[in-house]
Amino acid sequence: MLTPLRWTDGALEMLDQRILPTRVEWIRYTTAEGVAEGIREMVVRGAPAIGIAAAYGMALAAHSRSDLKSADAVLRASRPTAVNLFWALDKIQALGTDHPDQILAMAKSIEQDDLEMNLAIGRHGAELVPKAANILTICNTGALATAGHGTALGVIRSAFAGDKEIHVWSCETRPRQQGLRLTAFELMHDKIPFNSISDGMAASLMRAGKVDFVIAGADRIAANGDTANKIGTYMLAVLAKHHGIPFAIAAPSSTFDLSLANGDLIPIEERTGTEITHIEGVQVAPDNCPVFNPGFDVTPGELITYIITENGVFRPPFQFK
Ligand code: MRU
Repeated sequence: MLTPLRWTDGALEMLDQRILPTRVEWIRYTTAEGVAEGIREMVVRGAPAIGIAAAYGMALAAHSRSDLKSADAVLRASRPTAVNLFWALDKIQALGTDHPDQILAMAKSIEQDDLEMNLAIGRHGAELVPKAANILTICNTGALATAGHGTALGVIRSAFAGDKEIHVWSCETRPRQQGLRLTAFELMHDKIPFNSISDGMAASLMRAGKVDFVIAGADRIAANGDTANKIGTYMLAVLAKHHGIPFAIAAPSSTFDLSLANGDLIPIEERTGTEITHIEGVQVAPDNCPVFNPGFDVTPGELITYIITENGVFRPPFQFK
């Protein structure tokens, strides 16, 4: 099974997602600071995976008798939008111990629970997918973004493994190209039929009747169902509404932030402009080109047809609190 993280010989190894699929390399981390850097630089990415990595980061800090408060703080500062990071660190804090074995056991159980939640999401979500479906998705929400199987991509996997005839339209997902690099890699690995497309193609495919179902993951879901996910997701939800196509969000309960009444309160990460001006380290824009690079957007709950969690399928109007 594909996995973004592995705990080996007292260290956390991350599959370097910055260079996949052309190179498969693992980076070994032995400190919480290192793990925070790996999360910030997107060696590991995807909401559930960064939560799991942070929990292992705390286990590393406990093993080396480092100050757990500052380890927690450095991990919390690594990326702001995905609430799974804070959820996982809260779970470690709630243990109320600095015992390394107990913290490591909790990190392992967060990882195992995530896999089980994804398999349940896959089962619930697959029932919503039409018998023969062209499914459009964005970013990478698969095994690489989670403990395994995936959320939105997990639904696609489960539907494909069942009796559904599936074809996927996988959006490139500029600027970091998680769709083109990572989702394509996973779909090929599982031999699921698909085409990679550039982000701007979604509207014309929908208008041509070539999309039956849209599904995306989530980084944070507010109490009213407003959902932050990879930049470009909102655009797909508006398009799906216009064309009368179901738009689903798939996420585990660890992605819900019920302390926030609505999506306006979700912090949106802004990343360096070089992600836009450079591709694979090659400058493609004029020198000093001004850019704006938010990593996520918020899709209002009223545009979402289904929110699929491990506990079942929710339909609007959403009120999770
Ligand atoms: O910037 P990334 O690659 O961490 O963003 C990932 C996404 O937006 C995913 O859709 C989300 O985290 C869900 S992953 C199961």
